[in-house]
Amino acid sequence: MKKTVTLTFSDGSPPIELPVEEGTYGKPVIDIRPLGAHGYFTHDPGFTATSSCNSAITYIDGDEGLLYYRGYPIEELAYQSDYMEVCYLLLHGELPTATQKQAFVESISHHTLLHDQMENVFRGFRRSAHPMAVMIGVTGAMSAFYHAGLDNFNPQHRESVAHRLIAKIPTVAAWAYKFNEGQPFVYPQNRLSYAENFMHMMFATPCEDYEPNPALARALDRIFILHADHEQNASTSTVRLAGSSGANPYACIASGMASLWGPLHGGANEAVLRMLEEMDDVSKIGEFIRRAKDKSDPFRLMGFGHRIYKNVDPRAAIIRRTCYEVLDALDLRDDPQFRIALELERIALEDEYFIERKLYPNVDFYSGIIFRAMGIPTSMFTALFALARTAGWVAQWHEMLSDPAHRIGRPRQLYTGAARRSFVPLEQRGA
Ligand code: SDX
Repeated sequence: MKKTVTLTFSDGSPPIELPVEEGTYGKPVIDIRPLGAHGYFTHDPGFTATSSCNSAITYIDGDEGLLYYRGYPIEELAYQSDYMEVCYLLLHGELPTATQKQAFVESISHHTLLHDQMENVFRGFRRSAHPMAVMIGVTGAMSAFYHAGLDNFNPQHRESVAHRLIAKIPTVAAWAYKFNEGQPFVYPQNRLSYAENFMHMMFATPCEDYEPNPALARALDRIFILHADHEQNASTSTVRLAGSSGANPYACIASGMASLWGPLHGGANEAVLRMLEEMDDVSKIGEFIRRAKDKSDPFRLMGFGHRIYKNVDPRAAIIRRTCYEVLDALDLRDDPQFRIALELERIALEDEYFIERKLYPNVDFYSGIIFRAMGIPTSMFTALFALARTAGWVAQWHEMLSDPAHRIGRPRQLYTGAARRSFVPLEQRGA
């Protein structure tokens, strides 16, 4: 017997019966689509209580602090898998066999180059342009290079788009950094692993050999895994809505990057470092905690809180451990900002305001400290988040278009504007 819920109205209007759908895990959903025919919309600004789609990719339990990619707990993937396997898993739903993994890695390695003409897109920016502005512009420009003949409804075409984006975005991100630095672009090296290749494009110069530190490459690969997907967050929902109209996927991924750039979303890791730089001493932590609690002050503690996780963000625990590993590898255990971050976390977690509101460190709280220790500038932090999240965005886009029942997204509204009125000619409107 299908479970249903019945809406009754206090004004005696006839009740409305709505189906309830159950997933593998998580809250059941009330299918409200029939409401339209009964003359109602639901109202949920910010979509805090709205399921926007069926998805089999990622499961989050905010109360239990759980995160699964295709059913695999993030802790197991972070410590036992690698980013290439996770990209395959997000796209195809299963971990690859050795043969499948080799073919996938081979394909990604052979799509890392950008069209030579793309260099001119970089050069259209000011040297001081924020790397995210450059990434958005260059990724959007890819829609000019890969558009003709692209059929979004052809699964092979979608897989080719996914491989191109997963392969090329690290090159775009690294070249955005080189462009800022005024250094020559460094080309991808197919002999290197995904994370090593990114580090090589970031830090190598024509003047001397550069070999990526294996411990740092492993840490970076793990950070990419942690950031790969996260259900229907703001940037993923942006990609889905843009892609629902059949738009060019490169342009859709650029729209996801634009959303991620916001300081309340992926821009938070950069904001965390700027906040820690402003603190510059543990004695100033109290003042920042006070400001974070002051409703008249727009300041929020960057890297704390989450729309879903009202328990520990499972990624934060993994990234804190990775932070220790990286600082040990670089002999920076006494890094002042790391010490401030640990003390800030300790104080906040003991403070009633944060406990009451279940505000815990999120994935962005420690990632910035690791990136800075690796020599990655603060302005590049969100670019690395975008690099890693590209796998999730393109997997969600692919899943949406694989559903024959998918339709263009078209939310409605509660209209609160003026009632109908007649036009007033200019001469009758007063001075
Ligand atoms: C990411 O959605 C995703 O999955 C995102 C992400 C992903 O992987 O895609 O996980 C990545 O974006 C992580 C979040 C990074 N953002 C930050 O660290 C920025 C700082 N955090 C916040 O601005 C805030 O916590 C949000 C935006 C993340 C969540 O906001 P919500 O769920 O809308 O929470 P809220 O604004 O309703 O806050 C509830 C209460 C409020 O106080 P009261 O009005 O109840 O008194 O908590 C307070 C808020 O003022 N609050 C904070 C706070 N976050 C919430 N107070 C101080 N500092 C904070 N960081």
